[in-house]
Amino acid sequence: MGNVAEPGQPRIAMSGAGKRYGTLQVFQDVELTVGEREVLAIIGPSGCGKTTLLRCIDGLIPLSAGEIKVEGERVTAPREGVAMVFQNFGLFPWKTVFQNVAYGLKLAGASRAQIAEQVPKFIELVGLTGFENYYPYQISGGMQQRCGLARALSVEPRVLLMDEPFGAVDAQTREILQFELLRIWEARPTTMVFVTHSIDEAVLMGDRVVVLKGRPSSVYEIVKVDLPRPRDRATLLQPRFAELREHVWSTLMADARQAELAIVKR
Ligand SMILES: Nc1ncnc2c1ncn2[C@@H]1O[C@H](COP(=O)(O)OP(=O)(O)OP(=O)(O)O)[C@@H](O)[C@H]1O
Ligand SMILES: [Mg+2]
Repeated sequence: MGNVAEPGQPRIAMSGAGKRYGTLQVFQDVELTVGEREVLAIIGPSGCGKTTLLRCIDGLIPLSAGEIKVEGERVTAPREGVAMVFQNFGLFPWKTVFQNVAYGLKLAGASRAQIAEQVPKFIELVGLTGFENYYPYQISGGMQQRCGLARALSVEPRVLLMDEPFGAVDAQTREILQFELLRIWEARPTTMVFVTHSIDEAVLMGDRVVVLKGRPSSVYEIVKVDLPRPRDRATLLQPRFAELREHVWSTLMADARQAELAIVKR
């Protein structure tokens, strides 16, 4: 299927990547690579351009400067093999769970027989069996996000782009989904770019955590997460996890704390 990256070549390579909306420079000079079986977590304040960056990688919108290559090819439009899970589920309200999951496969050119075989498999994988004929408004937020996940996974993407996939669900569901995603990823490791607001989630998921900061934003720091895989609930209890979380926290908060100190000193 399609182009497969040459050995040793990064799946995703961004160089000098910048995006402007009119006069608003959102991010600039982004240099990043993501490996074949790597999870790159991206964290940064609201509005710093995380969704915009994912959309550029997905080919939904063009960069204003620099380039993004996926599997060695410059991205100019959405590509086969790249799937995205959206921040707000991104489901079609008029389609059932089954039809929503089938949509990605249809776009990818799957036959009826392939759809009939694949859709139930992925609905089961995310725990939605029995809800195939429900519409999004009839299921909970967590279930809607499972549906979005099944749609993205069903095309067996070589690159999975996740935009705060668990941001809109309650804390318990979020934990459950995090560990389910880790389990799914372990079974079939692929290239993943995982955007989140949660420091814990970034450290838990990522092989590296990229901190985006500034206005316009750019890569402020890249933290290597040397926690062993497979990761599970016990990972959260490791002293190294706490150290890494603390490190990312202080990186993110450095400016906020300096601003606070400046106010106190006045
Ligand atoms: N289509 C658009 N047209 C103009 N400006 C936009 C557009 N999309 C996003 N922006 C602006 O670009 C900036 C970055 O937005 P983006 O949604 O990428 O941020 P984000 O980091 O994903 O934020 P959040 O964490 O809140 O999801 C914001 O200032 C936003 O107003
Ligand atoms: Mg966003």
